[in-house]
Amino acid sequence: MGASSIDSATLARVVQLACRAPSVHNSQPWRMSAQDSELRMFLEPHRVPHATDRSGREAVISCGALLDHLRVAATAAGWKAHIARFPNPSELDHLATVEFRRAQFVSDAERARADAILQRRTDRLPFAAPASWDFLEPVLRATIDTEKATLTVLPDSARSQLAEASRLTEAMRRYDSSYQAELHWWTSAFEVSDGIPYSALASASERGRVEVARAFPSDSHPDRRPQLDRDHSVIAVLCTDGDGRREALGCGEVLSDVLLEATMAGLATCTLTHLTELDASRAIIRALVGDTGDPQVLIRIGQVPAFDAQPPATPRRPLADVFGVEP
Ligand SMILES: Cc1cc2nc3c(=O)[nH]c(=O)nc-3n(C[C@H](O)[C@H](O)[C@H](O)COP(=O)(O)O)c2cc1C
Repeated sequence: MGASSIDSATLARVVQLACRAPSVHNSQPWRMSAQDSELRMFLEPHRVPHATDRSGREAVISCGALLDHLRVAATAAGWKAHIARFPNPSELDHLATVEFRRAQFVSDAERARADAILQRRTDRLPFAAPASWDFLEPVLRATIDTEKATLTVLPDSARSQLAEASRLTEAMRRYDSSYQAELHWWTSAFEVSDGIPYSALASASERGRVEVARAFPSDSHPDRRPQLDRDHSVIAVLCTDGDGRREALGCGEVLSDVLLEATMAGLATCTLTHLTELDASRAIIRALVGDTGDPQVLIRIGQVPAFDAQPPATPRRPLADVFGVEP
């Protein structure tokens, strides 16, 4: 690689930081390979949790989040990412090819955004109302690419319907043994390199205070955030115009944007998709957003009370398992 090409050590660091991206069940369904100054990103179909994510839509959304994290990490390292999405129409698992060109200048905001990658967590505990929401909402509206996904903030009056839809989804799946087995497979009392450790999940009693949540298995740890009687988050929905792979990838990029922007504003987030996995609950969300598109992802956004801990960072697969350099 020449001086105008990103060097392999920098690229490896950029990829490692990008891999902090959120993914459905922390499945990290991706693989990347570098050749010359190009990075190719692929979906790993065998890592898709199919009983949860029947069409693989959420795995592609996860890869979209990775793609945006990659762009943010490269920018902070002084490289501008030029992205070709679905460069090979006959190989749809090849999601993107990224070329890096040296940037003229790296701003403080760009560095802060990359720092937010390390600060962000999926937080499943109750939130206080987000104090800075009036400031964040217009910033989000100005930054997200509405060609890729639109953001609808649900009014408080929708809360009881959302809670009802959440309960309905979980009730419909109570006896779905493939779904339940998959949830157990992807959650664990021990830290491995993928999946969600119990320490990042809510206990049964904590879950009682968050009415819009996926019901994961969990252990019983002491009640955290006891000062919050219930969840006071703002809930936003990302919708796309179409339900194909291209839309899912774009939605993941916007998801990353929203999560990082909220983190930079000092807010906590929780990505939710159980409500878009079954037709019955997805129809409820579709009606709540006024039929403005295909609902993909909900995001709880709120405030962690002062001095309260945020959840621990979840593990990631070793870099060598997800990234290689080709001769
Ligand atoms: C497409 C997608 C769907 C997700 N769905 C849910 C969900 O329904 N409920 C939930 O609690 N977390 C959900 N998450 C969060 C992941 O479980 C989380 O990103 C992963 O465990 C890694 O942890 P981290 O976000 O703290 O780094 C989702 C994330 C993505 C990208």
